[in-house]
Amino acid sequence: MKMQYGSDFVFRQGWSVKKLPGLLAVVCLMTQGQTPVTLKSAYQGVFHIGAAINQAQFEERDQRATPIIISQFDTISPENVLKWGPVHPAKDTYNFGPADGYVAFGEKYGMMVMGHCLVWHSQTPDWVFQDDSGKPLVREALLERMHDHIKTVVGRYKGRIAGWDVVNEALNDDGTMRQSPWFKIIGDDYIAKAFEFAHEADPKARLYYNDYSLENPAKRKGAVELMKKLKGQGVPITGIGLQGHNKLEVPSAQAESDTIEAFSALGLEVNISELDVDVLPRTTNQNSADISATAAGGAASNPYVAGLPDEMQATLAKRYADLFAVFVKHRKDMGRVTFWGVTDANSWLNNFPTRGRTNYPLLFDRQGKPKPAFDAVVNAAHAK
Ligand code: G3I
Repeated sequence: MKMQYGSDFVFRQGWSVKKLPGLLAVVCLMTQGQTPVTLKSAYQGVFHIGAAINQAQFEERDQRATPIIISQFDTISPENVLKWGPVHPAKDTYNFGPADGYVAFGEKYGMMVMGHCLVWHSQTPDWVFQDDSGKPLVREALLERMHDHIKTVVGRYKGRIAGWDVVNEALNDDGTMRQSPWFKIIGDDYIAKAFEFAHEADPKARLYYNDYSLENPAKRKGAVELMKKLKGQGVPITGIGLQGHNKLEVPSAQAESDTIEAFSALGLEVNISELDVDVLPRTTNQNSADISATAAGGAASNPYVAGLPDEMQATLAKRYADLFAVFVKHRKDMGRVTFWGVTDANSWLNNFPTRGRTNYPLLFDRQGKPKPAFDAVVNAAHAK
């Protein structure tokens, strides 16, 4: 039987791991000559398991999260540093320092390094869509700008970044095309062009379309039609990233399963690219990860400031168990499952859709200690 460390594990000597930070727990087990089960060891041969990481983490300044990344995950995604704004803030200025550090960190620890993201409506500076006098660019000029950016960024990491989210969030919740500046200026072939430019810059890189709420039937239908069209045109697309910003109740495990099947049936690799589970009450009517959908808060919207009650920990663990049962069932079609963050302290969900809340969406708590949800995810791999 494999050893497991987690919230319920108790040493033979009677120490409760609950009292120890995560890293110390690993060290204690190792000094006893026992190999702890990690996420990446549990999921070896099933699919890659990863996390989105921030600058303090890949610069090894976050002494709580960095050891967890190194010990638990075999693939990483850049939470922000490879988005257009951070990496290409002005027309003739590229800021590759942080991105170089991100890639070097992944290589140092033998991880599969992912790129996120090349073409998105968000975190893209206004200058990208304007000429030198501030007027909107015309189609050919914006295509040329997109080409230069992709060639420069993808080309710099050719052979080192294994796969890219080429286009992010191009669809509305009803499955129609989002009226982004990319769409409005270039037209709906901007997606095909982005994939062609990325393939040209690194022919071996795996290329993905990435979006949220694809479990909702209308949006899924729009995405399936888009993928079919791209594949029919011979566009070099490898697969799809289902972001996976889940609530406790939605989407259902059945909807998750149906969604994976809908895309794998098209011959696409399916990845869960940004997994988390929001445990806090909704403050807007929408279920999406649309980052423009912020909301006002109030104490009722932030009920677990002092800690997540045991029954909620159990509910979260059950939710992760159900999701991973679906992922493991579809493992032949899946390349990776990547969490959007490492510990609860780092999650974007502490600030979305309401700023300054105390959320608990990940597998490691604010002290870096594995939660019951960690054990649930490890156990789901054993059920394979
Ligand atoms: O870089 C500035 C920094 O200079 C400044 O001091 C600081 C003050 O707030 O802000 C920093 O920028 C923030 C950036 O994260 C880096 O921390 C932005 O305000 C903040 O809006 C940005 O949020 C990111 C968000 O995307 C916005 O694009 C989140 O960290 C990131 O987790 C989130 O990730 C997205 C995926 O890329 C796409 N799918 C949805 C997912 C969640 O929104």
